[in-house]
Amino acid sequence: MPESRRKTLIAANWKMYKTAEEAVAFVRAFIPLASTHRHAEIVLCPSPTLLPAVVEAARNTSIRVAAQNMHWLDQGAYTGETSPLQLKALGVTHVLIGHSERRQYFNETDETVNLKLKSALAHGLVPIVCVGELLAEREANQTTAVLERQTSVALTGIDPASTGPLVIAYEPVWAIGTGRTATPEIADEAHKIVRAQIARSLTPQVAASTRILYGGSVKPENTASLCTLDDIDGALVGGASLVEASFEQIVANSAA
Ligand code: PGA
Repeated sequence: MPESRRKTLIAANWKMYKTAEEAVAFVRAFIPLASTHRHAEIVLCPSPTLLPAVVEAARNTSIRVAAQNMHWLDQGAYTGETSPLQLKALGVTHVLIGHSERRQYFNETDETVNLKLKSALAHGLVPIVCVGELLAEREANQTTAVLERQTSVALTGIDPASTGPLVIAYEPVWAIGTGRTATPEIADEAHKIVRAQIARSLTPQVAASTRILYGGSVKPENTASLCTLDDIDGALVGGASLVEASFEQIVANSAA
């Protein structure tokens, strides 16, 4: 499938920032721009407590809302967790799975990523599965092996015939929040490794239609050079998505 058939996706990962009031002010100011940029699907990923307010503020617009995490079960005695049913009931459409901060600080593993991915697909939530190597892994020439492992374990047991829209975010851990962006060449090479693994784990057709986003110090100035590459289908933006003007510029530059 040619690259042009994959719609660009730009996601704002707000992490543990913003109050509900600040989040709603952002969405209100952002709505006029979202309607002028039809080239990109725009997804905001706020903290769980902000989800109802952000869903409400974005109602009847093209802006979509993602949770930053979820449990894989529908319900149960799991204090502090959020279920896919609860997210669906709020109007949440997407979910981040396996962000490196969750892997690093909250013991998320390739296996729990797999459970969450299966659950998201079963519930019709669009999963944005994060993969990416540590600096030490890159320096030890393990990048390919790490990306293949993370992708193949995430996709284990998934029926290609019933896969809904699937999004993968390649986020090299050494580029997250460090100001050190992967060069377009490094990102492109990693995206090709991930896409080839999707083809082996599922089918070439699913691989061709899966959007692979780049994340890690994306800024207005580096968006265009990343997004023009065939295998880069958008961006997952942390720090630079918190300020409306810079996120607007990233969405605009992703069309370049
Ligand atoms: P960053 O974060 O853009 O601040 O590097 C990206 C992410 O963690 O998704």
